[in-house]
Amino acid sequence: MNFRVKKKDSLNGKFIIPGDKSISHRSIMCASIADGESKITGFLHGDDCLYTAKAFTEMGVKIDNQEGRMVIKGVGMNGLQAPKKDLYLGNSGTSMRLMAGLLVGQNFSSKLTGDKSLSQRPMLRIIEPLRNMGAEIFCEESGTPPVSINHSKNLNGFKYTLPIASAQVKSSLMFAALYGNHEMEIVENDQTRDHTEKMFKKFGVNISVEKINNTKNIKVENSKSLLASDINIPGDFSSAAFFILAALINPNSEILLENIGLNPTRTALLDVLIKMGADIQIKNILNEYEPSGDILIKTSNLIGIDLDEKLVPNLIDELPVLFIAAAFASGETRIRGAQELRAKESDRLEAMSHSLKALGVNFKLYSDGIDIEGQTKFNKSIKIDSFGDHRIAMASAIACSRLDGENEILNIENVSTSFPNFIDLCKSSGINIDIN
Ligand code: S3P
Repeated sequence: MNFRVKKKDSLNGKFIIPGDKSISHRSIMCASIADGESKITGFLHGDDCLYTAKAFTEMGVKIDNQEGRMVIKGVGMNGLQAPKKDLYLGNSGTSMRLMAGLLVGQNFSSKLTGDKSLSQRPMLRIIEPLRNMGAEIFCEESGTPPVSINHSKNLNGFKYTLPIASAQVKSSLMFAALYGNHEMEIVENDQTRDHTEKMFKKFGVNISVEKINNTKNIKVENSKSLLASDINIPGDFSSAAFFILAALINPNSEILLENIGLNPTRTALLDVLIKMGADIQIKNILNEYEPSGDILIKTSNLIGIDLDEKLVPNLIDELPVLFIAAAFASGETRIRGAQELRAKESDRLEAMSHSLKALGVNFKLYSDGIDIEGQTKFNKSIKIDSFGDHRIAMASAIACSRLDGENEILNIENVSTSFPNFIDLCKSSGINIDIN
């Protein structure tokens, strides 16, 4: 499937963005091993999270979709049943890495598989520390899935300093720590998204988080039980980012995105865009267990920026959006310290460089980043390959909403992994887009 995008000035209206993907995954995982019934509102019904839900139903958890609200009958920490077949997790790295941590604590064996993209993603980053805990967990010689897990009799806690800024690695170890003999201590030098810490607290896990300067110390004790909890999931900031970009670069635009997750470990893009000159206001902030609020965005003249490397983990999924914002800004934008982009659903540095080239943007690619020269003239009637990566497809589609002629984004199937109604929302906001 491909997107066809044509120019049409101005975006307007109020929009609700689908639920946060990271929180949706974690809500299914915690609720499944809790005691009692949890109700999840705002759950993201995208392919990635639905694969997580399906995997838990295959391990005996009853999950009911009641008009979009997920009602989960938790089976308790030791109540999961051995799956009858391999657990297939589609495109979702979060499902595989977090579930691997949870599954090393079970008294049965399991095997995790995925699609072509997931089958090429690095798993040693979780396998090595989980083995240090005593887990019996294996992958291919290339360090990629399938991931096989044997019943591990003894899991020890230990002190682990994260060698890469990865919330998935941190969370995988946190799930394993629930089943350990001793406390697990995780040291994080670059702060990554803290949804697992927040959700563990909500489900009554014994967890302490200490922050000294930029270093975080997370201690998780083994648990006897998790308490069922009702969860309200706000809109996904990473999905909102595409509409923030669209309103900024399209003339005469003003849009309001309602009830968006504003966890500060996720929203560095807002600060960066505001520094670049973006007219963005936050309204109606709600400080629940995860903060949320409305975001008002108006057309803006952006200027290039030298991105502070420290911010990269807090806007890692929004970098494709920032690349396009930089292309439409005046002056140069310099991004470094973003080598993790090469380990996402595609090599996003490489994939975005193809998009920029097709758009007619001058750039210089580095192993860990890119310099992008802002442009006033773009190519027209272009074709962009998204490499099957949802975020490359959506960022490129928004860029094409400023281009003359009819433009095409190829291989967009995986947009449904994170943003199933992207096309409908684009259309209702005024973007001229179709699927063929
Ligand atoms: C995620 C963490 C990030 C992010 C991914 C979701 C999560 O990955 O890119 O889309 O839900 O924990 P890393 O932690 O590997 O950087």
